[in-house]
Amino acid sequence: MKDLYGREIEYLRVSLTELCNLRCRYCMPVEGVNKKNHDEMLTEEELLVAVKVAVSLGIKKIRLTGGEPLVKKNIIDIVEKIKMIDGVKELCLTTNGTLLSKYARDLKRAGLDRINISLDTLDPKKYNYITRFGNIEEALEGIEESLKVGFDKVKINTVLIGGFNDDEVVNFAKKTLELPIDIRFIELMPMYDSGDFNEKSFMPCKAAFDILKKYCDDEKISIEKVDAAKTHAVAILYKLENAKGHIGFISPVSCDFCKECNRIRLTADGKLKPCLHSSQEICIKGLNEEEIREKFIETIKMKPERHARLSYKDRSEAKRNMNEIGG
Ligand code: GTP
Ligand code: 5AD
Ligand code: SF4
Repeated sequence: MKDLYGREIEYLRVSLTELCNLRCRYCMPVEGVNKKNHDEMLTEEELLVAVKVAVSLGIKKIRLTGGEPLVKKNIIDIVEKIKMIDGVKELCLTTNGTLLSKYARDLKRAGLDRINISLDTLDPKKYNYITRFGNIEEALEGIEESLKVGFDKVKINTVLIGGFNDDEVVNFAKKTLELPIDIRFIELMPMYDSGDFNEKSFMPCKAAFDILKKYCDDEKISIEKVDAAKTHAVAILYKLENAKGHIGFISPVSCDFCKECNRIRLTADGKLKPCLHSSQEICIKGLNEEEIREKFIETIKMKPERHARLSYKDRSEAKRNMNEIGG
């Protein structure tokens, strides 16, 4: 279905849980989230009805997010059931990767098509700091296992944080020489509460690209822009000479991509969100299929042309942290 600005809405991001086994400093408070009552959360049946309705309205791609979707105990079952719904062309998952060494094989078997993994540093101490207690080995093993069991087009999401990982841009980029993975740098978005981070932590993608370009010039390595003919990709892609994967830049702050936006979201507590950064939420909890259908149509019609400018003074209008939305 098209929204009021002619954008074909084909992508639904589904957050399965607000809970996470890490506490990334820009995403979640240290104490975690106030666990909501079970009866406030969408049931598995409601979720499957919602996906069925979404597909009937033209959604083709589903991405499971969180919190951390792999802490959901019936995750394999959910993947299997969603994949069986007619019209789901692509089923993807965004994860911190720490549970992938356990689940990657079963996820593949259950029909999951693609995995994106969050990793903000390659340094064990820094990883432990940014995630508040994570062990980088678990994330690295997760990446390795997902490649081993046959996932391709694995993407790594690296949130750029000035003073934290600006010195790792080149090391991350070099990973694309060794492994068939895409590394995507993402500008830190000022959400409702981004912990200790302020404008000093913000690093535009342009600054990361300049670091990379200088390295390539100094080392005489060619770097080519990749023509992303396939529309709606949020990243601008480059490739180093002889690399196995791409380097991407996602710039939601310095250069938004609302014009191309083809997505809506469903939160774990059953709220449809027309835009990541809007405060509008449409509840589908407790509704029947026909009512859910109406709410989806309402949500798509409500999708704003663009979100308001983001800055640390003008934070996202979404009154939720990222773990409560799903990225
Ligand atoms: P692909 O299917 O591989 O293209 O994945 P994706 O980029 O859609 O999903 P992923 O979960 O890997 O998200 C990557 C980054 O883009 C995250 O930091 C998200 O928060 C950010 N992002 C995703 N959707 C939106 C959106 O609608 N608006 C903005 N501003 N940022 C978004
Ligand atoms: N800004 C940018 N990206 C963020 N993510 C979480 N919080 C933010 C933020 N404030 C990223 C995670 C994950 C993806 C779904 O969203 O690192 O890769
Ligand atoms: Fe968990 Fe991802 Fe948030 Fe980190 S960014 S706390 S891994 S949901």
